[in-house]
Amino acid sequence: MNICVIGTGYVGLVSGVCFSEIGNKVTCVDIDENKINNLKEGIIPIYEPGLEELVVKNIEAKKLSFSTDLNTAMENAEIIFIAVGTPPKENGEADLRFVEAVATSIGKKLNNYKVIVTKSTVPVGTGKWIKGIIEKESGHNNFDVASNPEFLREGSAIFDTMNMERAVIGVESEKAKEWLTKLHEPFKTNIVISDIETAEMIKYAANAFLATKISFINEIANICELVGADVTKVAEGMGLDNRIGQAFLAAGIGYGGSCFPKDTNALINIAEKAGYNLKIVKDVEDVNKNQRFRIYDKVKEAFNSDLNGKKLAVLGLAFKPNTDDMRAAPSIDIIPKLQEEGALVLAYDPVAMKNAHKEIPNLQTVESYIEAVQDADAVIILTDWEEFKNLDLITLKGVVKQPVLIDGRNMFSLDDMEELGYYYASIGRKT
Ligand code: UGA
Repeated sequence: MNICVIGTGYVGLVSGVCFSEIGNKVTCVDIDENKINNLKEGIIPIYEPGLEELVVKNIEAKKLSFSTDLNTAMENAEIIFIAVGTPPKENGEADLRFVEAVATSIGKKLNNYKVIVTKSTVPVGTGKWIKGIIEKESGHNNFDVASNPEFLREGSAIFDTMNMERAVIGVESEKAKEWLTKLHEPFKTNIVISDIETAEMIKYAANAFLATKISFINEIANICELVGADVTKVAEGMGLDNRIGQAFLAAGIGYGGSCFPKDTNALINIAEKAGYNLKIVKDVEDVNKNQRFRIYDKVKEAFNSDLNGKKLAVLGLAFKPNTDDMRAAPSIDIIPKLQEEGALVLAYDPVAMKNAHKEIPNLQTVESYIEAVQDADAVIILTDWEEFKNLDLITLKGVVKQPVLIDGRNMFSLDDMEELGYYYASIGRKT
């Protein structure tokens, strides 16, 4: 099929590339000329394993192209995906400015039947609202709108898309249903067909549920510390029940990123507007906001509340491993708090340091983990990168000033740490 994807952020770029990989002709459009010129050369604006190879491969196969010219790109397209950003407003509501601008441009140019699909995460009712804009601008209704939310994770975006566990397709016409089902057939996945509002809601409900699992296990972790239980074993014991599942029960310093914080707040806002008080999700957000500061408390505890002049090595800045994304990363709140106490913080992250400097004003970074930990009074782990999981703890002990490891991601076994003689504090386990 001939596809046009508008917006080359995470969602748009990955979806566009994967649609081309399964045999469609795809044009990705963005207003950012610099970004498009780079993409034409195979230069990718984000760190995402496997993405660059697929971009280059499909450009060469002439299945994928990039353009700033929406009018030409949409001319031959049968399906247009809107995948522009929906950043949060001050009150948590999703800002639909970019979606509105794109819908207006599509409406101005629309001359033959096309299916216009929202991939961006948008409040329930947006599909219908877009339809109104396009009808007004085009002066006809020879088109369909649809919703096809995206469930990929940063860091494994290509794998998640190529191996999607389900495709949700929200439609109001047989033709749109037929075209979007056909488009998804090569993914050999479960297809959930619904109306547009339901599809829009599925995305928010899924993210809010995952966020709930994380805040739930983090609260259990906090109780575990008080009663002497071990949260990793509790999670294992709970998760083996199929109805609960093992995933998303890793206690730590809470969730970050551009999705969970934004989407939980947007859902709270959607509920409020509909006259409903979404208590559970409000608490999920509240628990998450506080959870990141538990690591700060643990560092203070290790030094009897005196961090003045202490050299602290922070390992990991990104909100999770395999990404350079710093949006809503716990490190943004934790590092300044440690600095306020007079600590000298030296940080290292395998890929997120450049972005981290934009978010954390007085951040000092070094080029390797070993430089960061040299003579450190404590090592603090904020992101569960594989590189840190494989740390040689014996070598580490030899280079630090004091063997103090404060682990926000529960990466090491309590027995190993005890045997090696570390002061080891983690989340929801004995110190
Ligand atoms: C999330 C969802 O997982 C995707 O399905 C969804 O498509 C995406 O949001 C989106 O809405 O676009 P993402 O934000 O990339 O994906 O990250 P996740 O891998 O879900 O991790 C989110 C956060 O939860 C991270 O900060 C991670 O450290 C934390 N987390 C995750 C935990 O603290 N514990 C866990 O057990 C799992």
